[in-house]
Amino acid sequence: MKRFVVVANRLPVDAGPGGLVSALQPITRSSGGAWVGWTGNPDERPEPFEHEGVHIHPVELTAEDVDRYYEGQSNSTIWPLFHDGVEPSVHHRPWRVAYQAVNKRFAEAAAAVAAEGATVWVHDYQLMLVPGMLRELRPDLRIGFFLHIPFPPVELFMQLPRRTDFVRGLLGADLVGFQQPLAAQNFLRLTTQLLGLRPEGERVEYEGRTVTARAFPISIDVSEIDELAADPQVQEDARRLRKDLGGDRRLLLLGVDRLDYTKGIDQRIEAYGELLADGTVSNEEAVLVQVATPSRMRVAQYQQLRERVEREVGRINGEFGDVGRAPLHYLFQSRSRAELVALYLAADIMLVTPLRDGMNLVAKEYVAARRDEGGALVLSEFTGSASELSDAFLVNPYDVDDLKRGISAAIAAGPEDLAARMRKMRETVRANDVGRWAKQFLEALGTH
Ligand code: ADP
Ligand code: F6P
Repeated sequence: MKRFVVVANRLPVDAGPGGLVSALQPITRSSGGAWVGWTGNPDERPEPFEHEGVHIHPVELTAEDVDRYYEGQSNSTIWPLFHDGVEPSVHHRPWRVAYQAVNKRFAEAAAAVAAEGATVWVHDYQLMLVPGMLRELRPDLRIGFFLHIPFPPVELFMQLPRRTDFVRGLLGADLVGFQQPLAAQNFLRLTTQLLGLRPEGERVEYEGRTVTARAFPISIDVSEIDELAADPQVQEDARRLRKDLGGDRRLLLLGVDRLDYTKGIDQRIEAYGELLADGTVSNEEAVLVQVATPSRMRVAQYQQLRERVEREVGRINGEFGDVGRAPLHYLFQSRSRAELVALYLAADIMLVTPLRDGMNLVAKEYVAARRDEGGALVLSEFTGSASELSDAFLVNPYDVDDLKRGISAAIAAGPEDLAARMRKMRETVRANDVGRWAKQFLEALGTH
């Protein structure tokens, strides 16, 4: 039985890259806590085990659950709707049934490992019913919930079938955390619209309890990135990367994302293609490296994105490339943390251009890696990170001309301007480490 329990769809074991696991693993390890989640493979439930100082409690998902709860309701219904509807949200009744059943399974697993009066921290859009279910099973617990992705405007949320269930589910928590203040306000407005509640400030009374909804912008493990960036081997790898990509090339542009339609990868590549076409950059002097990790590949919208991106990469390399020298290197792969940091160090311009993103940790990792105060960050206005990193070259990724303007401005900026911008962004990121984020959340939840 544990005093601190994390509940998330994924376990921090062999997980694909993603902000959630990167953010929470260090905290759970240092508190000796337990983690309830899914291994990522269907029809598998290993016995509880220890992994890197965390007590792991696997929850089983059958192949049908993966299909309906994970790929269906979570990633084809909720994910697109919560990201401004950038792709159409798909609705199916059996998916909703599976989502509810799987949420119940997670709530029961958490109830079984949490000690009397323990703190349970539930994460993300896959598990929005868990706080309410857990409260029914274990009224003695302190329950926190954090949503890692955006929370949509009220008008969009209202499209969700069985929408009131989600609001009630979240109200099962004592503290509901969001990335942005506006998201917390949207949620509180919905409690009025759907349940007739009367929030006061950031608090609302529900079934005799007080629930608080507040923004806690997430961050990264700054020291982990800092240590990697200081490692002579990583620095050597960064130099080698530059050389391998053409030592005489003046400009290395970089994108690092899960291959997700919210990340604006195709818009970014289109803008780069236009910059090559109009001669702002040339294959002699510039190269773009796009690392795109395979993600949710059984979902149709992700397959379509992959096809769009790969077609465009082929077109650009065909049109502007030369024998032995391509203007765009596309890696449909995951990379180790050390390799990512070497790429960050090598990149003159980091392109983070999502159409919508709750936070975006890649932007913060790039900044944390640049101990040399070099490099430039081109950042979408529609990321949570943009609220903190206002010294980036901010762009509207829906507007290809504005993307091109932002990239051109980063290319044209002088070293002093770049260093001043990077210095300010580094101060912000270093002052708001993920450890501080967790501490603030848990303090507000009333347990630390
Ligand atoms: P999301 O949570 O939507 O995937 P974030 O930018 O917030 O997006 O977090 C992504 C995390 O995954 C970061 O820690 C980043 O370093 C990592 N990551 C992204 N792409 C890759 C990749 N190709 N290889 C390894 N790690 C990656
Ligand atoms: O932070 C958003 C998020 O969806 C996490 O919940 C998730 O673990 C990560 O991105 C990666 O996605 P997935 O778990 O679907 O591979």
